[in-house]
Amino acid sequence: MSNFLYGLDFGTTNSVLCIYDEDKEAIIETIRVPSLIYFPAHSFSGSDDPVIGEKAISAYLEEEMQGRFIKSVKQILSRPSFTETRINGRRYNASDLVALILKDLKRKADAITGVDCRKAVVGRPVFFDDDNAAKDSLAQTRLSKAVAMAGFSDVRFQFEPIGAAFAYERTIKKREKVLVADLGGGTTDFTFLELDPKKAGSTDRRNDMIASGGIYIGGDSFDSSFMWTKGTPYFGKDTLYEATPGKLLKVPMSLFENICTWDKMNFFNSLKIRRSMEEYYHYSKNDRKFRNLLTLVDHNLGYAVFKSIEKTKIGLSEADTFPFQYSNMGIEIDEKITLDDYNKVVQKDIAKISSYLDQFLKTYNIATAEIDSLFLTGGSSMVKAVQTLFQTKFPDCTIHTGDNFISVAEGLAYSGYLFKE
Ligand SMILES: Nc1ncnc2c1ncn2[C@@H]1O[C@H](COP(=O)(O)OP(=O)(O)OP(=O)(O)O)[C@@H](O)[C@H]1O
Ligand SMILES: [Mg+2]
Repeated sequence: MSNFLYGLDFGTTNSVLCIYDEDKEAIIETIRVPSLIYFPAHSFSGSDDPVIGEKAISAYLEEEMQGRFIKSVKQILSRPSFTETRINGRRYNASDLVALILKDLKRKADAITGVDCRKAVVGRPVFFDDDNAAKDSLAQTRLSKAVAMAGFSDVRFQFEPIGAAFAYERTIKKREKVLVADLGGGTTDFTFLELDPKKAGSTDRRNDMIASGGIYIGGDSFDSSFMWTKGTPYFGKDTLYEATPGKLLKVPMSLFENICTWDKMNFFNSLKIRRSMEEYYHYSKNDRKFRNLLTLVDHNLGYAVFKSIEKTKIGLSEADTFPFQYSNMGIEIDEKITLDDYNKVVQKDIAKISSYLDQFLKTYNIATAEIDSLFLTGGSSMVKAVQTLFQTKFPDCTIHTGDNFISVAEGLAYSGYLFKE
């Protein structure tokens, strides 16, 4: 019987598992699931178990968006304020939620290998959150717990961009100093290292790692910025209400912050906020757009609206204009977005990535001339403004790309040397 190792990339948007056959020294299968969890309000298909991945979307739509739909759960790993959430009478902490996704992947992989494989190299971003050691170690502890709960007992962790680098190493012919940038849903991670196809699979790679760093900005940040600028006006961001007789004020911005990020949206079920929204609605004389905010919250439409936002983003990775459209329950959005508009929306996020990268190169004394090539991966590397950023910063470098969604997991599966160190 073969021996296996799983390369496990738990991502903000997508989670991927590569099955590595240690005897054949090859990846034999790759499984990818969207990092989504859906708890139906009622028993679904006769079971109280949550639904994971692609099926979570169809189940949520089938159940008319009732119940709890959780996206980007990786983001709560580093939040000390998140301790647990109660769903259908049960308590779930961050590790419990993450373990649901990891278990799903392991179950699928074990069905292929025919064994209960407990050995895994698990990826982690260089920083889970801002450069904050306490939050980072909280996230690492929670992820380790989730990995153990999912049934892995022989585990090593590897920085995600190093995983991506090892996947790229399998495609090159000569030694290179490479800057790897992995732009995912939650984070943008960098690593600068020396790659050598002759060294692929060798046991000591310590001296090849030159520098790693990262910033808490990714595709979710772009979507949040888009929701803030282009989406919230449709949900009444500019609504005026009568605070005292004759005195008109704008409704608080904080209401709209709640619908722009997933960590807030996932756990946005406060009765108090809901009641205050009702009052603003009343004192705005039932503003039609503000009513959309109530509809969004009451009918759990966040995922669907964000799906439209993502569709626009993906459309603009290929075309110069793309519509932003959403039509449901009285919410009517149909607006043409140009690439220029989009670039403006994400300008601040791009500027943060840019200045982080400058700082990274400076901290580690990396001269642009030293970089032989650039490897860009992760779904958000397809955003035009991201590509322009790298082309402008490194005009003389060849930019390589791989499979944006599975490179990291592949490289983790090639990181078995970590068990021999
Ligand atoms: N064609 C595209 N153009 C622009 N963005 C895209 C495209 N396809 C996917 N994305 C975005 O890429 C992100 C997902 O990328 P990826 O799967 O690499 O992230 P992840 O590994 O789950 O996240 P992280 O590594 O940050 O935890 C999402 O924000 C998604 O909207
Ligand atoms: Mg990733």
